[in-house]
Amino acid sequence: MKTRITELFGIEHPIIQGGMHYVGFAEMAAAVSNAGGLGIITGLTQKSAADLANEIAKCRDMTDKPFGVNLTFLPVVNAPDYPGMVKAIIEGGVKVVETAGNNPQAVLPALHDAGIKVIHKCTSVRHSLKAQRIGCDAVSVDGFECGGHPGEDDVPNFILLPRAAEELEIPFVASGGMADGRSLVAALALGAEGMNMGTRFIATKEAPVHDNVKAALVAASELDTRLVMRPLRNTERVLTNSAVERLLEKERALGANIKFEDIIEEVAGVYPRILMDGEMDAGAWSCGMVAGLIKDVPTCKELIDRIMAEAEAIIAGRLQGFAKAA
Ligand SMILES: Cc1cc2nc3c(=O)[nH]c(=O)nc-3n(C[C@H](O)[C@H](O)[C@H](O)COP(=O)(O)O)c2cc1C
Repeated sequence: MKTRITELFGIEHPIIQGGMHYVGFAEMAAAVSNAGGLGIITGLTQKSAADLANEIAKCRDMTDKPFGVNLTFLPVVNAPDYPGMVKAIIEGGVKVVETAGNNPQAVLPALHDAGIKVIHKCTSVRHSLKAQRIGCDAVSVDGFECGGHPGEDDVPNFILLPRAAEELEIPFVASGGMADGRSLVAALALGAEGMNMGTRFIATKEAPVHDNVKAALVAASELDTRLVMRPLRNTERVLTNSAVERLLEKERALGANIKFEDIIEEVAGVYPRILMDGEMDAGAWSCGMVAGLIKDVPTCKELIDRIMAEAEAIIAGRLQGFAKAA
C-alpha cells in the first residue's frame, strides 16, 4: 500500500510502532521494521546518550530497513540529556524521529539539517496545527482511546481524525485504538495516511517484555483501562490492577489537594518491575482500550501481514460491494 506516510518514511506498509517506555528496545523496533512497518526505539528508556547510541547500533545490526527514535519531552525540572540524544540519533544515521510531549521546536533545526523526518504526536487539532506550523513533517494524531497520555480534551478518534483531516496539510497517522485491518481502513477513511499502534505491538512474540504482560493484554477487555493522574493534569490511560485502584482511591480521598508525592509509590520507577519482571500489580502502566481487541500473540510479521491482507480484503470486498450496490 502506498500513502504519503509510506513515501515520507520509505516503508512498505503504513504502520508505525509508537515509542513505548521499557518496550521500545532494538528488538521491538527491528522486528516491526523488518516486517515492513516503522519500528521506533524509545529514547528515554536508555539511561544516557551513550546507551541510546548503542541501542541504535544494535538495531542497525538487526535490520537494514528504516527505523526511528522516540524523543518524549517531559515537563520536568531536571531535563534528560536531549542534546546528547539528538547527537546520538544523527551520528547513528537514524532517518525518522517521533517526538511527543512538549513542543519539539528546539530540536527541529538539527534534525532537519541531518535529513531526518520528524513526526510529532499530538492529542488535539490545535497542537497538530502548531506542529505543522513549526515545520514537523507529519503528525501522529492520538485519540482519547490511546494507551498512555491522551491529553485533557477527551476527543475520541471518530471525531479527532476527520477534524485533523479538515485542518492539516501535512500527512498524519491515526493513533489510539488501532489493532487490525479494520482499524487501518477506518483510519484511511477518516483522512489519515496510516496508523500508529502501541498496545497491540506489546502482545507480539518479539516484544521484549515479560510473558505476564502479554498474557494480561490477551486477558483484558476494553473495560479494563482507567484514567489516572487527571487531577494533576497529566492524565494517563493504564491497565487496571490493585495499585491503580489504590491510586484512584487516593485521588478520590485527596481531591484537588493531591500532589505527585502522594502517588509516587504507584507511578515512580514501576515500568521495569512490570514490563521486565512481570510484577503485574507493581504500579500504573500505560495500556489502551484496544486491549479488548487483542486475542493472540503473533510475530510482528504475522501481525502486519494479517493487517494488510484484512485491510485489502475489506476495501476490495465489503466496501466495493456496498459501492456497487448503491
Ligand atoms: C506501555 C506503553 C508505554 C508508552 N510509552 C510512551 C513513551 O514513552 N513516549 C510516547 O511518546 N508514547 C508512549 N506511549 C504511547 C504510544 O506510543 C502510542 O501513542 C499509544 O500506545 C497509541 O495508543 P494504543 O495503545 O491504543 O495503540 C506508550 C504506550 C504504552 C502502551
